[in-house]
Amino acid sequence: MSVKRRRLASWLQGRGIEIGALHRPLEVTPGASVTYVDRLPVAELREHYPELADLPLTPVAVIGNAEDLSAFDDQTLDFVIANHLLEHLEYPIRGLLEFQRVLRPGGLVYLALPDKRVTFDKKRALTTIDHLLDEHRDQAAAQNRRDHFLDWAVNVDGKASGKEADDHVRYLMARDYSIHFHVWRPETFLEFLFAARAQAGVELDLLQFAAPETEADDEFILLLAKGPADSPRLPPQAGAHRRIRSGLTGRLRRLAGVRRRLARRA
Ligand SMILES: C[S@@+](CC[C@H](N)C(=O)[O-])C[C@H]1O[C@@H](n2cnc3c(N)ncnc32)[C@H](O)[C@@H]1O
Repeated sequence: MSVKRRRLASWLQGRGIEIGALHRPLEVTPGASVTYVDRLPVAELREHYPELADLPLTPVAVIGNAEDLSAFDDQTLDFVIANHLLEHLEYPIRGLLEFQRVLRPGGLVYLALPDKRVTFDKKRALTTIDHLLDEHRDQAAAQNRRDHFLDWAVNVDGKASGKEADDHVRYLMARDYSIHFHVWRPETFLEFLFAARAQAGVELDLLQFAAPETEADDEFILLLAKGPADSPRLPPQAGAHRRIRSGLTGRLRRLAGVRRRLARRA
């Protein structure tokens, strides 16, 4: 696991879910327990991703859709992990709102997303904020579904526009193939997140953001907290340092009090 994934995973504690772990579950600390959720059971994931035939896949405990986590009650989880998942959703705002619903106040969302500049999405146009907000408001993803598949057929799978691409679109749609519906780079995802906060009821505060850090690194990661919060959330170690310091400060204050009382008696 990359240093970046590990650094941000150290924030996760308690009980949570990872959606779409597939062959790359996030490694978490012993203080975190994870239930694995996917839209498909492992046997179907094997068919869907033949390129992963040599790799072990994460056992799926709960079959569920990230846009409808009805298997989980409101405010019951400490964290939701969704790595390379949000771009597969037709309604990413609906997904974010579901994460928010199942999280306790202050609960964390760990999101890794591909940076289109260094993935097979390179040739595709960035998804605009208007597109995402309009689709969400008008519940219009079904009308745009074919266009998303066509974009994938031509710009990812390299099919020639016309019959070749159309046949491929039919094939992918019949398989309900899990394409990247939406395409971001770090800045455009942040713009989308802030627009979803301003206009779509998303109340997830940005705690940490990590852009790609090496040439081979194809992802950016966000750590979000269900807000609003009265004070900034600090990294786990900084919080520990603060607790140690305040314990020490308390002891020093008590000692000073004892010294004052002794001085008064003398
Ligand atoms: C590209 S893989 C991500 C693998 C891994 N998390 C990683 O970081 O590389 C996408 C995963 O999300 C799952 N998935 C896609 N759409 C989903 C949805 N709407 N609800 C739940 N899982 C979904 C897929 O079945 C697959 O397991």
